[in-house]
Amino acid sequence: MAAPMHRARVSSWKLFSRQYRKKSTKIIHPSEDVRSVKENELPMDPAILNRMKDGEIKARKNPGIMRLKTVVVPIRLEKAVDLLVKKYGTQSIISDSRKLNTSLITRQMPMERTGVMERKNIIRQKILEKDKNKHGSISSDKETDYMNELERRVEVELKLKHLSHWKSKQYDAKSGMKYMVARMAQNYAVLLQVLNEIWTRDPTYIPKSLYNYGSGLGSVIWAAQNNPDWQRDISQYYCVDPSVDINTIARLLLQDGHEEKDMHVNGVFFKKFQPSPSTNSFSTVVSAYTLIECENKEARQKMVQSLWDMTEDYLVLVEIGTFVGHRLIQEAKEFILNVRYYTL
Ligand SMILES: C[S@@+](CC[C@H](N)C(=O)[O-])C[C@H]1O[C@@H](n2cnc3c(N)ncnc32)[C@H](O)[C@@H]1O
Repeated sequence: MAAPMHRARVSSWKLFSRQYRKKSTKIIHPSEDVRSVKENELPMDPAILNRMKDGEIKARKNPGIMRLKTVVVPIRLEKAVDLLVKKYGTQSIISDSRKLNTSLITRQMPMERTGVMERKNIIRQKILEKDKNKHGSISSDKETDYMNELERRVEVELKLKHLSHWKSKQYDAKSGMKYMVARMAQNYAVLLQVLNEIWTRDPTYIPKSLYNYGSGLGSVIWAAQNNPDWQRDISQYYCVDPSVDINTIARLLLQDGHEEKDMHVNGVFFKKFQPSPSTNSFSTVVSAYTLIECENKEARQKMVQSLWDMTEDYLVLVEIGTFVGHRLIQEAKEFILNVRYYTL
């Protein structure tokens, strides 16, 4: 289980968004005592700072800025999406995909078991008080029936008001098509941004294999193709997604939307189940928008642990750019840092 020292981690693009930077990042002058540097503060490279002071480079164009300008979806991908929509799309696909996108970006984290018990106690207490004010005390011969009814009402309220916010998304052919229209371009742009950070920070790094967990429409394959070295040298894209229909759509996209064509990227494998972490490893491991699909913290940690165990060089975790997504990434980051601490 020991993790090699050189493994690195690139977090969600959210971590690099302007809002996050504003809130949590402070530039430290090199002359400041390094012991005063807090967790979210970044010591500035003295050479860059001097060049900025001399007016040689502008602060807004410093080499630490890696944000890509407008990302354009590859024309090949655009055409494949159009063709699939024409062949298999419904009339309401645009409005349905908008609704799906809204539901995805407003998703809440699943409630933990301890949270459920606490919430139940609060609801129970509220109902008891309300009933007492309305009907007075319950006579002892009616107590058992009342308690059973009370538990039923607690369950109903819990389900309606608190548990209904999170559901695992199961994609079939129809919802997979909606997901493609709603998210393909966005997922591609985000993945390209994240990979671009690896390409900028570690320009000589070329993975031999890429593992994609919760691979969905395979947006990371399309993003990786933008780097000629990665395009040439990655010999295996091992994609795992429990939805057979989503795997089919991802494959069709790589076949230009035609069932009879070959995929234009070699070495792509779509699987339903993940390989054993004890006997498999991959240069780069990517999982985008999948932590939110796990039913609780334990399942998320199990997932992160197995991805980390299979990672040789880089583990990339991406979640939606909301507070929920940020919390999921922070939780995974803390978990990995603890795993590293205890296993090195
Ligand atoms: C939001 S999509 C991810 C899209 C994909 N990463 C992309 O960039 O196109 C989430 C995917 O996770 C899959 N999924 C759901 N539950 C999962 C689980 N427990 N483990 C792995 N994948 C899961 C779904 O089938 C779905 O395709």
